[in-house]
Amino acid sequence: MRTCRVGLVGAGGVAQRHARVLGGFEDVEILGVTDVSREAAEALAGAHGARTFADVEELLAAGPDAVYVCVPPFAHGPVEEAVIAAGVPMFVEKPVAVDLETAERIAALVEEKGLLTAVGHHWRYLHVVEQARELLAGRAVRMVNGAWLDKVPPVAWWAVRDRSGGPVVEQAAHVLDLVRALVGEAVEVTAYGDGTPPPVDGADIDSVTAATLRFAGGAVGTLAAACVLIWKHRAGLEILADGLALSLAEDGLTVRDADGERRVESDPDAARVAVDRAFVDAVRGVGDDVRVPYAEALRTQRLALAVSESARTGRPVALPTDPAAAPLATAGVSVDA
Ligand SMILES: NC(=O)c1ccc[n+]([C@@H]2O[C@H](COP(=O)([O-])OP(=O)(O)OC[C@H]3O[C@@H](n4cnc5c(N)ncnc54)[C@H](O)[C@@H]3O)[C@@H](O)[C@H]2O)c1
Repeated sequence: MRTCRVGLVGAGGVAQRHARVLGGFEDVEILGVTDVSREAAEALAGAHGARTFADVEELLAAGPDAVYVCVPPFAHGPVEEAVIAAGVPMFVEKPVAVDLETAERIAALVEEKGLLTAVGHHWRYLHVVEQARELLAGRAVRMVNGAWLDKVPPVAWWAVRDRSGGPVVEQAAHVLDLVRALVGEAVEVTAYGDGTPPPVDGADIDSVTAATLRFAGGAVGTLAAACVLIWKHRAGLEILADGLALSLAEDGLTVRDADGERRVESDPDAARVAVDRAFVDAVRGVGDDVRVPYAEALRTQRLALAVSESARTGRPVALPTDPAAAPLATAGVSVDA
């Protein structure tokens, strides 16, 4: 494959970013764009000298080498099914769905087909994540505290649970994905929401959520999510091991240990480029650095949904100890550890 011909499904904010990044790669051609809003598809296609397609089927008929699925959370499912049936490598934006059923169904189809996939958890490509991993190697993590404290993003679907999955699934999932990568799998979560939606049309989500997590490796942790501000306050996590404290966010890593405190800066844009570069290289058969294929994102989705389910029901939620295994179950007691 000389150039990788990419089709985009969805032409909103994140599709525009991927198109910008992909358009900067010499070995990528943006083949075309489809969106339920013809106008949005035409605008994005026009900006990149690409075609506009009426729907996913028409886009797939044009023979793309890869498809980016950049639809809002509620629209996942049918698009992926069409792409998988066509056997085309697929990049899916997070969250992979609003629910677990859709995500489990798509994951099973991906596995059945042996399809190359990637999901937009681009934080995994921050070089400071690798440094954090090295610093933690051989140490037991004792505690992790994750947070996403922000405003309500300016997209109409965001504050509606059925449309976005809620702030933990839609937004804090980036943090939960890193928690999983650096601390391991959680086995039980308990969460509370405030039951007070933000003052936005149609909103039915919690404005704030606080969760506690227990991990298979023995660590405990917390997650805080809030959308009550008018600025992005903090998105990141702190990890404590014996004699070591790490504070990690998109813009850098602060390390404190017996030698004192040091700071390593990080460029979030580099990770946003790296996630696309790794996927395209994998599609072209010249690389093998997809860090979050669909099956891995499914595990993050399970954890995020466990938190929101617990906040909704007021009960602890147990997660499968083998994350590849059964769906999560709401329970008053944890699963066997
Ligand atoms: N990884 C990241 O850093 C990152 C950043 C921003 C957004 N996102 C994720 O990307 C997703 C989309 O976010 P956005 O900001 O681009 O939203 P958006 O609302 O700006 O754009 C979504 C677009 O999808 C279109 N659409 C809806 N249903 C469709 C369908 N069935 N088929 C084709 N097009 C359809 C809409 O018309 C709209 O143009 C969200 O899940 C969001 O969490 C990820």
